[in-house]
Amino acid sequence: MSKRIRKAVFPVAGLGTRFLPATKAVPKEMLTVVDRPVVQHVVDEAREAGIEHFIFVTGRGKGAIEDHFDMAYELEDTLRRRNKSKEYEALMSDLPAAGATSFTRQQAPLGLGHAVWCARDIIGDEPFAVLLPDMITLPARGKSARCLAEAVAAYEKHGGNIIAVEEVKPEETHQYGIVARGKDYGATFEITGMVEKPPQGTAPSNFIISGRYILEPEIFALLEKHEKGAGGEIQLTDAMIHLAKTRPFHAVRFDGRTYDTGSKLGFLVANVAFGLARPDVAEGLRAELKKMLD
Ligand code: G1P
Repeated sequence: MSKRIRKAVFPVAGLGTRFLPATKAVPKEMLTVVDRPVVQHVVDEAREAGIEHFIFVTGRGKGAIEDHFDMAYELEDTLRRRNKSKEYEALMSDLPAAGATSFTRQQAPLGLGHAVWCARDIIGDEPFAVLLPDMITLPARGKSARCLAEAVAAYEKHGGNIIAVEEVKPEETHQYGIVARGKDYGATFEITGMVEKPPQGTAPSNFIISGRYILEPEIFALLEKHEKGAGGEIQLTDAMIHLAKTRPFHAVRFDGRTYDTGSKLGFLVANVAFGLARPDVAEGLRAELKKMLD
């Protein structure tokens, strides 16, 4: 029987240069989509998938993320005294339980593989999830599961390692990690190969690694080698390629949509999509969009 996935790693050390000047003094993960920071949307998704311990791999200038997941005593006290109980309850229900968060620093920007490796002692010897915080997901219409919940379901079916994937246009594959498709089970398929940022025209498929992973702890010994790959960085994909020689990897096709908030267009589209999914603003937003486009 597969072990339960209790812990998740959030690599939040990135500088956010694509979003300057917005990210000069504010971590990119704290930019808001509707009224929640991007990183909160990702933590929401992890919670919905049953994650109990949230591990943030941070860097310099990321203190606001730590404060966001802490109590804000003065603010909470003021809300209570002013009888703003709805706002107070909402803050409290977002607050992780005491001891349910860990923060560790990636001291130098050596790549995603290195960031995940920084969490090795906090993870220990159990399978775990990784969520890339730039990517935020919404379930398909009429469904409720976001991407990590689908990855956990795929893990319960196949065990081993799971990577969430999404299909893109062939001309976009060089910007991502790409998987090669083996035996197909419908919502999932066997992964027979992976490559990080293949040159244009060489990708083994159009399925990109979309930012949600379930990995076995054996990955840490491979990351420990600190081998540099695409872009001169220690790549998570390269360690997964090694692990796949001895352990199974399956892909889960997320039945919903992933928004890359790390790009300007993706961020704007995410705000519209999440706004349209929110009962309190959806109607007004739809009317405004219609006016703008007519
Ligand atoms: C990372 C991963 C890549 C994945 C991508 C998703 O790349 O290395 O495999 O497809 O995230 O956004 P990055 O965007 O950090 O260059």
